[in-house]
Amino acid sequence: MYRIYDLQCNNMPFPQGIDDAKPTFSWKLDSDQQDTYQVSYRLRVYLEECMVWDTGFIKSDKTFDIPYQGEKLKSGQLYFWEAESINNYGEKASSTTAKWQTGNIESRWLMKWISTGEARKEIVDCVSAEAIFAGAVKSLDKPEEVLDSPVYFRKEIGIEKEVKHAVAFATAKGIYDLQIDGQSVSHLFAPEYTSYNKHLEYQTYDVTKLLTPGRHGIGVILADGWYTGKIGLMGVGNQYGERNSFYLQIEVTYTDGTKELLGTDESFKWSYGGYRYSDLFVGEYYVQAKELTGYSKTGFDDSSWKQVVASVGGFDILQGQSITPARVVKKIVPEILCTPKGEVVLDAGANIVGFTRYEGPCEEEVEISFEHSEVLDQNGNFQQNILGQHKNQKDRILPNKTGIITYKPKFTFHGFRYVLLEGIKDPKAEDFEIWVIDDGLERTGSFVTSNEDINQLQENIYRSQQGNMLFVPTDCPQRERAGWTGDMQVYAPTATFNMDVLAFLKRWLKDMRLEQKMDGQIPNVIPAIDSNKYIDGEGQDEVSSAGWGDACVIVPYRLYQAYQSKEVLKDNFQMMCRWMDYVESKVSQEGLWDTGFHFGDWLIPSIMKATGNPMETAMKTKEEVASAMYAYTTEIMIDICNVLGEKKRAEHYLALNQKTRTSFSIKYISSDGRMRNDLQGLYVLALGMRLVDEHKRQACVRHLVNLVHENDDCLDTGFLSVPFLLETLYEEGEKELAYTLLFQKKSPSWLYAVTKGATTIWENWEAIRPDGTRTNSSYNHFAFGCVGEFMYKHIGGLEAVEAGYRKIKIAPDINCGLDWAKTSYVSRYGEISIDWDKKSGNLEVKLPPNTSGEIWWNGKTMEIGNGRYLLK
Ligand code: BGC
Repeated sequence: MYRIYDLQCNNMPFPQGIDDAKPTFSWKLDSDQQDTYQVSYRLRVYLEECMVWDTGFIKSDKTFDIPYQGEKLKSGQLYFWEAESINNYGEKASSTTAKWQTGNIESRWLMKWISTGEARKEIVDCVSAEAIFAGAVKSLDKPEEVLDSPVYFRKEIGIEKEVKHAVAFATAKGIYDLQIDGQSVSHLFAPEYTSYNKHLEYQTYDVTKLLTPGRHGIGVILADGWYTGKIGLMGVGNQYGERNSFYLQIEVTYTDGTKELLGTDESFKWSYGGYRYSDLFVGEYYVQAKELTGYSKTGFDDSSWKQVVASVGGFDILQGQSITPARVVKKIVPEILCTPKGEVVLDAGANIVGFTRYEGPCEEEVEISFEHSEVLDQNGNFQQNILGQHKNQKDRILPNKTGIITYKPKFTFHGFRYVLLEGIKDPKAEDFEIWVIDDGLERTGSFVTSNEDINQLQENIYRSQQGNMLFVPTDCPQRERAGWTGDMQVYAPTATFNMDVLAFLKRWLKDMRLEQKMDGQIPNVIPAIDSNKYIDGEGQDEVSSAGWGDACVIVPYRLYQAYQSKEVLKDNFQMMCRWMDYVESKVSQEGLWDTGFHFGDWLIPSIMKATGNPMETAMKTKEEVASAMYAYTTEIMIDICNVLGEKKRAEHYLALNQKTRTSFSIKYISSDGRMRNDLQGLYVLALGMRLVDEHKRQACVRHLVNLVHENDDCLDTGFLSVPFLLETLYEEGEKELAYTLLFQKKSPSWLYAVTKGATTIWENWEAIRPDGTRTNSSYNHFAFGCVGEFMYKHIGGLEAVEAGYRKIKIAPDINCGLDWAKTSYVSRYGEISIDWDKKSGNLEVKLPPNTSGEIWWNGKTMEIGNGRYLLK
């Protein structure tokens, strides 16, 4: 059977409110025959019953990134589309119907922003980053005394005729909940997080069914979110402006063909209500007595409410929602624990991202609270591990009557496993639900082996990715929740295996382009947060660090490798070149990047253990690391330029690359292959990035191997070198040592955390120390999960030899120490699967149509087409 499935528009199954005039279409293929290739395809697009585009059958094997070229698209409409594909056997496959919804395609913005006109409090009681990491600062004392309250807006409207179609475009500076007649119509945490002053997304909602003839109440609650909330490590507010505002435009088409425009203007009124405060990090405080019941319905008495301030402008930065909206993906009934101290604690069973819902008994004026944290201490008592300023992570409810209360936070979420409960007598587990949220990114990779610890590691990697690929790729979901570029850079290959991150990272890269400085620098955190200046090292003029800013080259390149998207390279090429020019202006005559501040091989375990200060790792390694990264990015640029046909630039980078490599070897590696700075990570970078002269290479490898042995066969690599560690050893003929490190259970190692019960990837290898002490590290940092790349390639046996897995190398290492492994990956072409079993000696492979492969098995190599293969 020949099958066409997984239709995507703009790299999403069902995009809602995209405003591209030419969205792109993609699909996947499946066949039970070998060597299947598409020879032609046909696409048809419909609006209501009318066909607005029919490609006819086009001779082409293209199955993705096909741009729309039909009739001009209309705003706020639901378009349907279908695809057909004919293969080389003459079989025809027809898809089911897929859809997408257009946003405000014509960019007509005719209503006004509304606000209270009042500024939000910033709260800059800054201490140093050192004090924060030493645990000296924590939460806000009495947040209700310093934080502003979310604002309620309302208005009633009249619909006089039968509505044929009504669409609402809404956005905010802040985060909003939009209701019509008491019914919420908005997405979770809309409009999400982007570089607000340069790129703000709006959402599109079909409200046809709600707007029946008669009167309707429109109500909105607007909270600080990322716009004015106390975000980042420093918890300083007003990072993008000091006033929250909301925008709504409803376009109504009546059945008689007439149209009407409704939405926000000065006729709206505002008030404070039940949410005393609501902050993404501090948490939420709900005071039931102040609830404005019915505020979004008709007939509500708003005579005491104030008139809003209305304004126009700033519409040029609006863009339709370009990724799948966040969703509640799972509801967990927690376990209730009673700690030795007598605390009542909920246990979600795993470290997740979301919030706690409660429906159960309460007493009048007795405050109920939920404080979130990632660990219990050594004795099983609640431990608040989340560092940073203003990180209360505590949601509170003040009921105004005894009875049953139902509550879940509206404008905050947390990264946690444990919840300290207060204010509930005899709590029952079934009264609680932990709601897990994620960004709805399709899971594309699965990797299961005969080793339970490795499986747990893979699950932890996935869970950390799920919790951190939320709105933007974040370092961690509790302490900073910031788009640290270096973290994404090291993790990108593993990320593309586990989930379809194309649309998600495209959006983030757009912000990166917008945030690039005039001189080409890329801020270390995207979206940029100004309050990071409080944590910058002394004398630090730059906002970019090697390995972090380099994400602007590496991340698009990884996306190209995984998804064969030339568009990503094209869209970001200028940014990359400007960044490379900036770095070129900083490197020495010899091509070494020996100036400025860099995070270096951040968090090297031995240095962390000795000094406890990550800046030591930066200072000690920054020069070699920056130069190595420069050699690495010039090399990647050569490839990118070749893909894009930029011959001259490619030559330029080739010359730079050669110069840097030669100088690196001379300056940092002695003739006996020893690095000036005798650290594992530096050997790894030098070898992995091919910076070692041939005649020094063997010796260099020996030194690295010795360093690992001297360290009790444990790794001692930091942030930037760790992704290359196992691969470098493997490629340099030290396969066994690579596996020793992978299967190592002593600290520091990946499986050490697994033996300590980790359910996510930690920031610090010894977040839980061997003596059982729980540190106040982040327990949910995906960066070190980058080991996934090695596992999928060598144990799974999956490697893309041509971008997008058009050609696939299947070379599982049967001598990796495991009995079997099952790996599957949904590439843009379709599903690839590789199963091997050592005992039977069987290897089963399946490749999707339009691809081909080379199999390395039992010492033999074999070229194959696609389809199923069983090798013995
Ligand atoms: C973050 C990292 C980030 C780093 C910069 C940390 O506080 O959590 O993951 O990359 O700062 O060095």
